[in-house]
Amino acid sequence: MATSLRRPSFTGCSSSPPDADDEGVRGTCEDASLCKRFAVSIGYWQDPYIPHLVRLSKERKAPEINRGYFARVHGVSQLIKAFLRKTGCNCQILNLGAGMDTTFWRLKDEDLLPSKYFEIDFPMIVTRKLHSIKLKPLLSKPILDLHSEDTLQMDGHTLDSTRYAIIGADLRDIPELEEKLKKCNMNTQLPTLLVAECVLVYMTPEQSANLLKWAANSFETAMFINYEQVRGSRRNVPSSSKPGIPEFLTSCRLVARVFGNSCLGPQESFLEFSF
Ligand SMILES: C[S@@+](CC[C@H](N)C(=O)[O-])C[C@H]1O[C@@H](n2cnc3c(N)ncnc32)[C@H](O)[C@@H]1O
Repeated sequence: MATSLRRPSFTGCSSSPPDADDEGVRGTCEDASLCKRFAVSIGYWQDPYIPHLVRLSKERKAPEINRGYFARVHGVSQLIKAFLRKTGCNCQILNLGAGMDTTFWRLKDEDLLPSKYFEIDFPMIVTRKLHSIKLKPLLSKPILDLHSEDTLQMDGHTLDSTRYAIIGADLRDIPELEEKLKKCNMNTQLPTLLVAECVLVYMTPEQSANLLKWAANSFETAMFINYEQVRGSRRNVPSSSKPGIPEFLTSCRLVARVFGNSCLGPQESFLEFSF
């Protein structure tokens, strides 16, 4: 839907029909964001935006969890900034399975935004995030301030503005994903950073491979950051939610094979990046 206003507003957003499958996988968005929210609340790192997207859980998280999340957020953030500096911000970022991630807003504060920042997640997750964006000026103002047209493309599970787009799509459905990204003016000529932070493990190796092959064939220059659990346990997640786990390391190996080969990180969790 396009709203035609002098200053675009977030009104008129219809809600999306709930998609029934993958409930367990979507639940991982809640887990990750609650852990990040808790770590931020006790000072592990600064994030003024996450309280506007995620409620504070009553349950305290163990120090190991807080430290793990600190390393994860800091590590991914360092690599994103390295890419932005290397490209002089003349690039785009695709955050795959972004959940309640706040990188776009934090980069804006550091004057380090790419030409365009895209977030993709299941429509139901996107609808929830869009709801918060519409309600919270701290989240909506940077998007509106950076928007250069009178109209803002928006429906219940997509918002497309000049510098930020959020898209409800299934990463396993490549034609749909590509079509939606193109509608939001994804530019395959621009240096592109793809980020998957604890996402590929929720797909089968074949599905991750398809996504990676699409990425490798679509962009003139691309870098892929894959932060993944390896040697994972099935303890806390229904087994059907983590089809990638039995072949742990598969997604890291796949990224390395498709994009080149650079690995960083401790034994239990790989931060992988490849030019
Ligand atoms: C563990 S959460 C991580 C969220 C975010 N990357 C972070 O680190 O805070 C995994 C995310 O990937 C999304 N996801 C998993 N499989 C997906 C798929 N096939 N299509 C779209 N999103 C997917 C989930 O909905 C969820 O938001």
